[in-house]
Amino acid sequence: MKMNNPKSNYTLITGASEGLGKALAIECASRRMNLVLVALPGSELHSLASFIRRNYFVGVLSIEKDLCRDESCRELFNEISSLDLNINILINNAGIGGTGLFENGSIDLYEKQIRLNVLATTLISRLFIDMLKRNRSAYILNVGSMASFFCLPKKQVYGATKSFIYFFSKTLRRELKQNNIHVSVLCPGGMNTNPAVTLLNKTGNYISRLSIMNPEEVAPLAIDGLLKGKPVIVPGRMNRVFLVLDKMLPEKIKDLLTGSTMKKINPDHSLVRYLSVVAEPGSGEQAIA
Ligand SMILES: NC(=O)c1ccc[n+]([C@@H]2O[C@H](COP(=O)([O-])OP(=O)(O)OC[C@H]3O[C@@H](n4cnc5c(N)ncnc54)[C@H](OP(=O)(O)O)[C@@H]3O)[C@@H](O)[C@H]2O)c1
Repeated sequence: MKMNNPKSNYTLITGASEGLGKALAIECASRRMNLVLVALPGSELHSLASFIRRNYFVGVLSIEKDLCRDESCRELFNEISSLDLNINILINNAGIGGTGLFENGSIDLYEKQIRLNVLATTLISRLFIDMLKRNRSAYILNVGSMASFFCLPKKQVYGATKSFIYFFSKTLRRELKQNNIHVSVLCPGGMNTNPAVTLLNKTGNYISRLSIMNPEEVAPLAIDGLLKGKPVIVPGRMNRVFLVLDKMLPEKIKDLLTGSTMKKINPDHSLVRYLSVVAEPGSGEQAIA
C-alpha cells in the first residue's frame, strides 16, 4: 500500500485495475483528482498506481482487497480512515458479469456476482456515508448496466444485480439530496474491456455491435455526468435509442427482439471460454457484463 498527499480529497474507485475502472481512474487523474484504487490481490493495481503518479502528479493509494470476502468492506473503510484520508467521491465500479443459461452457471459464480455487485456496493456506500457527509458536497457513482433496464435471457442474475444498483442509486439520491451528496448511476451497454468480453461482443447481431463502446469513451462521459449531478448516465446514442424503444414497444415485441439478440451472443464459443480463463484465472464464466 502506498500513500501520497494525505490531507487532500480523494476519489475512491473499486475494480480499478482494468477495464472501465482503470479508464475512470485515468480520467479522474487527468482532472487532478487524488485516487484510492481498489482491486483484487495480485492484479496490475500497483503498476497502474505508479503510472498515474508519474504521469498525472496526483496522490494515488492502491489497496488490494477481495471485496467478495466477508469483512473486506469494513477493512477497506478502516484502512482509509486510519490514514486520515477524506473521500469526497465514491465510485462503486467493481462488478462481475456473466452470460449464459441459468442452469449452466455455477453456484460460485452467482454467489460472487451478488456479493460483489450488490453487497459490496451497498456496504461500501453505507460505511462511507458519514465521511461523504462531512464534505460541502460529495458524489457517489454506482456502475449499473443497460442490463439494469431489460429482462435479458442469459443475463438473469447479472441483470437483476444491476437492476438493484439502478433502484438503490435512484432512491439513495433522493435521501442524500439534503446532505448535498449527489448520487448517479452509470448504465453502459457492452464495452470492450478485456479480450474475452471483446470477442463475445463481436458475436452479437449488427444492432448490438453498433452500441459497443470502449471504456476510454465511457469514462469521460461518466465523470462529466457525475459532476453535473445527472441521476442516470447512459453513454452512447445507440443505448439511448434502445431506452426510448423500450418505453414505446409492447412487451411481446421487446421479448422477441431481446430474445433473438441474446440467442446470437454465444459464451460457449471455444475462444471466448479460453480467453475468459486466461483473463481471470479460475473464473472462466465471469467475462461479460
Ligand atoms: N464490460 C461491459 O461490457 C460492461 C457493460 C456494462 C456494465 N459493466 C459494468 O462495469 C463495471 C466494470 O466492468 P469491466 O468490464 O470493466 O470489468 P473487468 O474488466 O472485468 O474489471 C473488473 C475490475 O474489478 C476488479 N474485481 C473483480 N473482482 C473483484 C473483487 N472480488 N474484489 C475487488 N475487485 C474485484 C478487477 O480486479 P482484478 O484486475 O484484480 O481482477 C478489475 O479491476 C462492472 O460493474 C460491470 O458490471 C460492464
